[in-house]
Amino acid sequence: MDLPWGDPRSNKFATSIGLITSNGPYGHDILACEWTHHISYRPGLIAVSLGPTKAIVENIRTSKEFGINLCATDQTIIASVAGGYTGRDYEKINALKDLGFQFYQAENIDVMMVKGASLNTECKLFKEVSFGDHVMLIGEVVNAIHNPEKESLIYNNGKYWSLQSIAKPNQEKRQSIKDILEKHRKV
Ligand SMILES: Cc1cc2nc3c(=O)[nH]c(=O)nc-3n(C[C@H](O)[C@H](O)[C@H](O)COP(=O)(O)O)c2cc1C
Repeated sequence: MDLPWGDPRSNKFATSIGLITSNGPYGHDILACEWTHHISYRPGLIAVSLGPTKAIVENIRTSKEFGINLCATDQTIIASVAGGYTGRDYEKINALKDLGFQFYQAENIDVMMVKGASLNTECKLFKEVSFGDHVMLIGEVVNAIHNPEKESLIYNNGKYWSLQSIAKPNQEKRQSIKDILEKHRKV
């Protein structure tokens, strides 16, 4: 069966928003990607799932490198611009500069990075895999800088959210859970 965009069941997922940056046939581009996932520690790999017709896919296929900047809670305008316009028709990074946002040149790849993101990772294209109607571009991290003062923006049900911590079970509860698990230990 399908699980389409906008379906209430699809809307149950909560994600970060990757601000994907690249340089290629469409020049410097930026795209918003809710399907951004950390998928390996050693080496550090991050997967982004993208519609195959996005301008940024062509950029990345050509240059074999891209930036993944995790959008911070005070950068919703960047997510909306990066995700609402295409690099085929707009110089989104220049427009965002005019809107007051800052970018810097990556150290190890020829890509602009988003200043003030909660995490900036520079990636080399590790692998491309097609799944269903999207292509998954897996990036191997070659540089990663996190910003301890910024929190990652959350995306759910087409809206932006901020994280709120919920307490873990207390010690007494954890012990009672452990006792029950011990009763069900496989012999
Ligand atoms: C919050 C948000 C999240 C998005 N997530 C994705 C995504 O995970 N994958 C995708 O292909 N497009 C996603 N999009 C849509 C692209 O960002 C959008 O089509 C963009 O304009 C494509 O830019 P480009 O043509 O310059 O590559 C998202 C848009 C928004 C606003």
